[in-house]
This record gives sequence, structure tokens and C-alpha cells, in this order.
Amino acid sequence: MAKILVTGGTGYIGSHTVVELQQNGFEVVIVDNLSNSYAGVIDNIEKITGIRPGFELLDLREDKKTDDFFNGHRDIAGIIHFAALKAVGESVAEPLKYYENNILSLVNILKAMKKYKLNKLVFSSSCTVYGQPDILPVTENAPVKQAMSPYGHTKQISEDIITNVCNVEPIHGVLLRYFNPIGAHDSALIGELPIGIPSNLVPFITQTAIGIRDYLRVFGNDYSTPDGTAIRDYIHVVDLAKAHVTAVNRLINLKNKKNVEIFNLGNGMGFSVLEVIQSFEKMAGVKLNYKIVERRPGDVEKVWADTSYANSELGWKAGKNLDDMTLSAWNWELYLRKINVY
Ligand code: NAD
Ligand code: UD1
Repeated sequence: MAKILVTGGTGYIGSHTVVELQQNGFEVVIVDNLSNSYAGVIDNIEKITGIRPGFELLDLREDKKTDDFFNGHRDIAGIIHFAALKAVGESVAEPLKYYENNILSLVNILKAMKKYKLNKLVFSSSCTVYGQPDILPVTENAPVKQAMSPYGHTKQISEDIITNVCNVEPIHGVLLRYFNPIGAHDSALIGELPIGIPSNLVPFITQTAIGIRDYLRVFGNDYSTPDGTAIRDYIHVVDLAKAHVTAVNRLINLKNKKNVEIFNLGNGMGFSVLEVIQSFEKMAGVKLNYKIVERRPGDVEKVWADTSYANSELGWKAGKNLDDMTLSAWNWELYLRKINVY
């Protein structure tokens, strides 16, 4: 049974990926500093899969402790590196926190990989690297644009660091550029737990519908789109998680074609903010209170993925539709209320 290290494995996308890895026969060890997640997630992963993943409380900024961890786990077959800070607004206010956390963590992992001769890395990148693409749908060959935030910049720098290291070390990397992950596991036992006021659309919708927020602000209806609201490529988090299993298998089975490969992970379709709201209202059976307000600074108008390369090369395709996404997000919100999280 191959052992996979999942950094940030108690977080939103990481926890779903741990479940998929276990269900595909991998042994998993998680490291996380619990800065944006909680240890109870491990219990719920065990409830879903019947297997308790390994867990070590570790802050990847600490190079000595990170080295010690890797020294004790020389049998790791592959690493999926999710651990990062991801709040765009906060990164503008506190750029150093983001550069330190996201870059130092990656550098410490790569140093340990080099030292202990571990050579397979899957990295969480983002469609934010494309900014507003000139051509839609956006392919992996589209130019990387000036980052809109320090958070986005950490993703660009991280991609460059991995590429530079893979060019000179026997390390192979897969850079996965996620579009907009939403939704939760069918069991409703794991999902996204936003700390404080959510900045992302779907957690804000579900928190509004359940009564935590008064109303959703729809940021702009004067975009050049069919209904005037901005368009994104929403992807179910379970589909995204499955792509990580595929990517790590590809590296383990030496099927990668280059030492660094890049894949877009989206469902390949764009939905407007109003379409997401309509889907949510239909699936949850709840009328959502919302108001149209000014555009949010820094938002792109429309972006969705060309997923044909990921589909053909990885043999992976997103299977869930927008209604699956909004319903599972709602079921997760209902679970959070049941366990009195707020
Ligand atoms: P998340 O915050 O739920 O999970 C990240 C986890 O990493 C958290 O559990 C946090 O405690 C941990 N972590 C952060 N810094 C750490 C450190 N120094 N040491 C150890 N653990 C640390 O976020 P997520 O939504 O699951 O995102 C996972 C990855 O995907 C991130 O790299 C994020 O930037 C990237 N990504 C997310 C999205 C999205 O919309 N959620 C989109 C594109 C890319
Ligand atoms: C944002 C980040 C992106 C990051 C991603 C995942 C920005 C500019 N981009 O993407 O870098 O990778 O989150 O964390 O912040 N919306 C509303 N009302 C709300 C919230 C959102 O109308 O209260 C709209 C937005 O204007 C956008 C869409 O919903 O059109 C999706 O927004 P969001 O979920 O925040 O994701 P992105 O902005 O695409």
C-alpha cells in the first residue's frame, strides 16, 4: 500500500482528497498546523472511510521540524501539497504572512524531498494565475498574468519554484490549477469551514439561507455576460479530489510526460452568479435574500476552463453538475448547524 503525504489534509480540499485516496487503497499521513481547520475532521474522515489517516501536527514553516518529519517518513511514495493560506483579501492586508507561510512551507518541503530522495509532488495552484484571460475557455498554455493579490502571487512563485527545482533535481511535479471548488462530500461529514465572514460566493449563500447573514451581495450586474453577473467555472470538491488521486497515480506509475506538468481542473462550463443562486434556491427549496451591489474590486469578468488536456491526459473528467454542488453545500451547512458550529 503506497503511502501518500497530504499537507493541509484536514482542510477543505485536502480532507476530501484523503477520503478518495483511502478509498483507492492508499495509506495516508496528514500534516497540518490546524491554522484553518480542526482535528475533528480526522474523526469524520474515519467515519466515511472506516480508516483513520495518520496525522501529525506540524507547521511547515518550521524547517527543522519539517526535516524531522520527513526523516521519520522516508517511505512516502508521493506528496500532495495543499497547505497554504488562501484568503485573498487578507493577503492584501498582510502580504508578509502569505509570502512567509506559502513560500517557506513549499521550500521546506522541497529541501526535505531533495535530502530524503522523495521525488513526486502534486501542488495546489489556482486559475487565479491566468487573471482575466484573453481567450475563453482558458487552456494551460494561456499566459500567466500579473497577480491580482499577494495570495495569487504566492501561487505563481510556487509554480516557478517547483519548475526550477524539477529542472535540476530528479523530482517530478504536477501543478493543478483549480477553478472554483465548491460543494461538500455526499455524507455531509466534511466540507468547507470558513473562518469568520466568508468571502467566497457559495459559503456566503448557504450562511445567508440559514440565517447567519442578512443578505448576499451580488457584486455587479453590469458585466458583459448574458445576465450581467460574473461567470466562473465551479467544480465539485469531490471531482477535484478524485483528480488528485489520478495525478499521484500518474507520477507513481511513471506516466508523466514531462518533469513538470500543468493541468486545469474545472468542469469546463461557466455559470453566472445568478445561475448559482437559482440552482441553490431550486435544490435547497429556500428563497435567497440578495441585493445587487457594486462590482468587487479585483474580480475578473468571466473565466472558465478548457479541460480537454486534463480529460485526455489524466483520463479524468468532472462528473457532478451545478445542482449537485449547491445541494451538497446546503447539506453541509445543515450539518454545521446540527453540530452547533456557529
Ligand atoms: P484550507 O484552508 O481549507 O486548507 C488548507 C490547510 O492547510 C488548512 O487545514 C490549514 O490549517 C493548513 N495550513 C496552512 N498553512 C500551514 C502550514 N504552514 N503548515 C501546516 N499546515 C498549514 O484551504 P483549501 O480550500 O482546502 O485549499 C487547499 C489548497 O488549494 C491551498 O493551497 C489553496 O491555496 C488552494 N486553492 C484553493 C482554492 C479554493 O477555492 N478553495 C482555489 C484554488 C487553489
Ligand atoms: C476568489 C479569488 C481567487 C481564489 C478563489 C478561491 C478574488 C478576486 N479571487 O475567486 O483568487 O482562488 O476565490 O478562494 O478574490 N460573489 C458575489 N457575492 C459574494 C461573493 C462572491 O457576488 O458575496 C461573486 C464574485 O464577484 C464572483 C463569484 O461570486 O463573480 C465567485 O466569487 P468567489 O467565490 O469569491 O471566487 P472568485 O472571486 O472567483
